Amino acid sequence: MSALRPMVILGTGYTGRWIQKLAREQSLPILASSRRPEHHLRDVAQTARLQFDLDQPSTWDALPMDADLIWTFPAVPLEQVQAFATHSCSHSRRLVVLGSTSAYDRGDEPLTNMPPWIDESSPVNFDLPRVQGEEYLRTQHDGIILRVAGIYGPNRNPVEWIRQGRVGPTHKFVNLIHVEDLAALCLLALRTGRAGDIYNISDGHPRRWADICAEVSRRWGIVSPREASSCQSGKRICNRKTLDTLHYTLRHPDLYHTLAALQQAAGARMTP
Ligand SMILES: NC(=O)c1ccc[n+]([C@@H]2O[C@H](COP(=O)([O-])OP(=O)(O)OC[C@H]3O[C@@H](n4cnc5c(N)ncnc54)[C@H](OP(=O)(O)O)[C@@H]3O)[C@@H](O)[C@H]2O)c1
Repeated sequence: MSALRPMVILGTGYTGRWIQKLAREQSLPILASSRRPEHHLRDVAQTARLQFDLDQPSTWDALPMDADLIWTFPAVPLEQVQAFATHSCSHSRRLVVLGSTSAYDRGDEPLTNMPPWIDESSPVNFDLPRVQGEEYLRTQHDGIILRVAGIYGPNRNPVEWIRQGRVGPTHKFVNLIHVEDLAALCLLALRTGRAGDIYNISDGHPRRWADICAEVSRRWGIVSPREASSCQSGKRICNRKTLDTLHYTLRHPDLYHTLAALQQAAGARMTP
């Protein structure tokens, strides 16, 4: 891919905004899309935004022919994904698709104290509609699939999830990735990833929610109102292939260090 080939972010939500920011910082030509750009991308110059809706074929021709694509919403339903890709995803386009590490949830995992590591060769659940969409894009259109762990960052702060009781002190393993690292890896995968390949996107440090809750309680005195009721083991996602083959060093390798920064920033916002 030439450095100056334009890119389109298909769906400029939480991650898309960070991709847009990093691309601008690197002076990469980037267009942001939304189903309702006049509402959701009001702050983006009209020349840098476009309307795109997977469910509205009339919007598909707005994508510049020579642009590479970063797809940031679930690739479903399969029929619509197939129709769009057949129409718009020629093999000359580079395509990165954000998937989820939930692809590895098969529902038949034995309850274990220490679940095995999951790498990109681990089996996925083909019953999941988004896995079907992603595998279609990967095998038929050379899509590069990023299997993404839980995304956190500014305004998506795990400390708040604990405070609100969205998570509690269970023994389940959770895998996380800071949105800034995810955005950087999207750009890197688009530039240098192998067509049709799969990359796990996680910080490589699976932790039990019980351990995170204990540390959050110790540092900030915040305790989840939720009881430890989950009997799931969770997963341990290996990111070795991604860091090695994309030659990437995480900007946020230490969850607690980054949570402290997020807490500090949130506190500063609340101080009059
Ligand atoms: N959140 C997590 O912890 C997590 C974990 C693993 C994987 N993921 C996956 O990672 C990806 C990025 O997550 P995110 O939280 O950044 O997503 P997000 O904030 O929901 O952004 C995706 C954007 O895509 C647009 N969109 C949705 N459906 C569309 C459609 N049918 N056609 C065109 N555009 C559409 C929406 O923008 P408009 O309304 O402006 O069109 C939406 O804001 C998603 O695929 C998500 O499932 C998330």
